[in-house]
Amino acid sequence: MCGIIGYCGPKPAGPILIQGLRRLEYRGYDSAGIGVLSDGDVAVFKKKGKINNLAEVVPEDLPGTCGIGHTRWATHGVVNDANAHPHADATGKIVIVHNGIIENYTALREKLEEDGCVFASDTDSEVIAHLLASLYEGNLEKTMAQALTLLQGTYGIVALHADEPDTIVGARNGSPLVLGIGDDEMFLASDVTAIVAHTKQVVYIEDGEIISITPSTYHLTDQRRNTVDKKIEFISWELEEIEKDGYAHFMEKEIFEQPDSILRAMQGRIDHEYATSHLGGLNMSRAELLNTERVKIIAAGTSFHAGLVAANLIESIARIPCTAELASELRYRNPIVERNTVYFAVSQSGETADTLYAMRELQRKGARVLGICNVVGATIPRESDGGVYIHSGPEIAVASTKAFTSQLTAFYLFALLIARMRDMSYEGGKEFVQALESIPEHIRSMLSRVDTIRSLAKKYAGVADFLFLGRGLNYPVALEGALKLKEISYIHAEGYSAAEIKHGPIALINEQTPSLFLVPDDALRDKVLSNMKEVKARRGPVIAVCVDGDRDVAEVADDVIEIPRASTVIYPFLMVVPLQLFSYYTALELGRNVDQPRNLAKSVTVE
Ligand code: M6R
Repeated sequence: MCGIIGYCGPKPAGPILIQGLRRLEYRGYDSAGIGVLSDGDVAVFKKKGKINNLAEVVPEDLPGTCGIGHTRWATHGVVNDANAHPHADATGKIVIVHNGIIENYTALREKLEEDGCVFASDTDSEVIAHLLASLYEGNLEKTMAQALTLLQGTYGIVALHADEPDTIVGARNGSPLVLGIGDDEMFLASDVTAIVAHTKQVVYIEDGEIISITPSTYHLTDQRRNTVDKKIEFISWELEEIEKDGYAHFMEKEIFEQPDSILRAMQGRIDHEYATSHLGGLNMSRAELLNTERVKIIAAGTSFHAGLVAANLIESIARIPCTAELASELRYRNPIVERNTVYFAVSQSGETADTLYAMRELQRKGARVLGICNVVGATIPRESDGGVYIHSGPEIAVASTKAFTSQLTAFYLFALLIARMRDMSYEGGKEFVQALESIPEHIRSMLSRVDTIRSLAKKYAGVADFLFLGRGLNYPVALEGALKLKEISYIHAEGYSAAEIKHGPIALINEQTPSLFLVPDDALRDKVLSNMKEVKARRGPVIAVCVDGDRDVAEVADDVIEIPRASTVIYPFLMVVPLQLFSYYTALELGRNVDQPRNLAKSVTVE
């Protein structure tokens, strides 16, 4: 969602804030703004649209070495200059940026308006500035503490006051905030990508905490306003990892990184001697793993699709019941938490509100919830009872690609671990490990022949609707292919089990509606082939993703994308890469903003 940065130090704040906002633009990009403190005033600049629009109106020689900035993903109020952050009180002395939703803002606004406040925007966030002003008695940190007792909802707030030079105060409840500690300079940010160019030393702020910074000091208090002394952690990401490195887009870079990112997710976790895996971060003893009777997975979006593949795999090879469910649905249906059940909360960002709140609900009911996350130090891995980091490196493109295949890798390792404790033989384990280790090379070979996919994207870019169809392990991959296409090309796409089309979706088939079938050479191949023929019989154009040299499929399909013949268990990895590329090239063909598609944001920290 929204991105936040604050800087306090000896250097001019303007360029640091703008650079930080550029790095945060993937979090929200409908408008942006900064507020910089100088000589008892706060100069505020804000602009609808991209950071470039903002950069054009900020003077290069803007004075001031302490300031705050924000990239917005609109929740309350349309996208315009007035609704962009920062927001100020009537005097312009208190200036705030906010990520999250203030749920009681209507009541607060009515009360503040009764007291004479005039609002300049339609946002929920602006009430924070007026509320702080109405409570202010000379100390912003104390005022923030008072204000938090009146605010309901989620927030990462960063504020400054014109009368308190060189001071920024931040607070967090449900929206991420991190402190960056530099040499005589301090930063506050919604994620480390904004500050990694300046410092790698960070302190993660928890819900209920208030942080106050000056260039050389920071003061952190807990919910009871006692001072807390927290461990300083180190960011392991390098600056180069959040740059495009010669690729046209982050999405392209991230697709092409997959042979390496999958390898990183496996590294040090495969036990060749016993043909099993080590996942020390699960924090579970062998006995606890053996006593596990059920696995349940919660997630959203692409992470949910990884969970669906995992549920199928875990149940079939580890022989324990496993299901995946949308986190947003689980939270509100009063779920039953059974004994000996292991839950996984899967999230690339580790900050997705739907997944985080569902996880907390499960934990409240006594469940053990493990995280499968990418961003080290994010809220889900911090609050989970253990888990697996997927080590994909930063994923900046809004459309998730490499995180998906690394989430799958983590789940495949978990399935192997459990399976080897149950029915899977040593020989079976060896075969599984071999298959897993062959994935990076297979993907590498596919990435060296992308021309067919590029020309198919050109051929089909003009269509209005698309169906993605798969079965078994590859049914969730069809869902993922449809999600990818719709989110970055804006073509309407639906994913279905190929078996399901005869139960309704086949009514959509005509000469203008292509179907993309996933047809690996697995046990369901012939059935999918029949479904393809049903679509052809109704003049629907058919693209098939099948193994090299599958003539039966090629005879029926209009177009074919070939993948290497491999162990059937790893086909979800090999099937998803062409779909990622297909959506990428289609979006390019249509001139879409691939990395920052409309209406979306990378990390969805509101419900
Ligand atoms: O960070 P998470 O994995 O929790 O994010 C979940 C979804 O918001 C995310 O996968 C979303 O669907 C992506 N934009 C898909 O490409």
